[in-house]
Amino acid sequence: MIKVDLSNVNKEIDLVAYADKVEAINHAINEKTLPGNDFLGWAAYPETYDKEEFVRIEKAAKYIRENTKILVVAGIGGSYLGARAAIEALKGLYPEDDMQIIFMGQTMNGGYVKQVLRKLEGKKFAINVISKSGTTTETAVAFRLLKELLEKNVGVEEASKLIFATTDKEKGALVELAKKYGYERFVLPDDIGGRYSVFTAVGLLPMAAAGIDIKAFMEGAKNAMLAYNSDEINECYKYAVARHVLYKQYGYSVEMMVNYGLQFVQMGEWWKQLFGESEGKEKSGLLPDSATFTTDLHSLGQFIQDGSPILFETVIRETAPAEDVLVPHDDDDLDHLNYLEGKSLNYINSKACEGTIAAHAEAGGVPNIIIDIDRYDAFGLGELMYFFCRACAMSAYLNGVNPFNQPGVEIYKKNMFHLLGKPGYENK
Ligand code: PA5
Repeated sequence: MIKVDLSNVNKEIDLVAYADKVEAINHAINEKTLPGNDFLGWAAYPETYDKEEFVRIEKAAKYIRENTKILVVAGIGGSYLGARAAIEALKGLYPEDDMQIIFMGQTMNGGYVKQVLRKLEGKKFAINVISKSGTTTETAVAFRLLKELLEKNVGVEEASKLIFATTDKEKGALVELAKKYGYERFVLPDDIGGRYSVFTAVGLLPMAAAGIDIKAFMEGAKNAMLAYNSDEINECYKYAVARHVLYKQYGYSVEMMVNYGLQFVQMGEWWKQLFGESEGKEKSGLLPDSATFTTDLHSLGQFIQDGSPILFETVIRETAPAEDVLVPHDDDDLDHLNYLEGKSLNYINSKACEGTIAAHAEAGGVPNIIIDIDRYDAFGLGELMYFFCRACAMSAYLNGVNPFNQPGVEIYKKNMFHLLGKPGYENK
């Protein structure tokens, strides 16, 4: 199970003072009585999820894996970050698996899109287009291009068997398209918003296609749900309260999530959207930032240690990582590394972590919340992602904002549509 260690925060965090508030909010999450209550479907989803659809997801993933070696996932924000984070964390950046998952639909950059399309030229590939609204410009443009290319490569009929649409149950342009061309459809339920959707087909189909054990992932999420939907200050709420106190009482304005592996960079991206879009409202909220150590100690380390005292760190520490490598002996020892001979890289990483926590928390005065997990495996990741969703809802409610809307995201879209001449947006 996940353990939250506050011993390196070095500030008084009076958890007991929050006991009543936490109990009331937990109740409200379970009973769905606070603003945003119609978007709480994710909270019980690890138990209530559609089992028939789950079987179809597994079947579709098998079909994809048997019929092609490339799946292109077209989606943006909550419609791709969870899947990408999970796939990179569990399969790594250079998977042994010969199934390649490519992400598109999250950018308007012509150079990136051209590069992907060039790679797919003449190939048989599968597409999972993911959009709850079905109208998100980045994703819709990407899908138009991908569909055209796939139809050219394999023909319209074969393409329709290789395209999978994850969208609303009945509304939106993507539902119409899927019906017209006979694409298999998966549902993002009405009561689950994008950034809380990793436990639905949005996250599960790309993960399963990548070869991840999604049953174990959902088991992990369920385990967390059972552990954290309680009224007391459990580990999840301990984290939520600690970050809230660091923000409100001690005036920190940035929370930096730290991981110790490059395969977890996308976990930071997923987490940033989750907390940023849920809490950044009414001119308030912590800015979520992320870093990967030891890599970023060679770039951001100076600022964290000695720069403006605006941030605290939340460090995810894997206590029993699965894979490892030993430092070999070298007769010459010209690099003076024989003192590390036979030591494992994970051991060295753990000492770097220990040393860095001491440097930042003690010498630098940067509060460090430590989240201990056994390891990033499918079960552990399901647990951790649910832990963060639940902590995020609690944190936002502690701040007095609705965790499930995102009114601020619409303004740039309106401006962009006006500038692009989209019908209906003539007046700014
Ligand atoms: O979390 C969210 O709600 C957003 O990030 C959306 O997922 C994102 O904007 C994509 O929206 P849609 O799924 O409607 O294409």
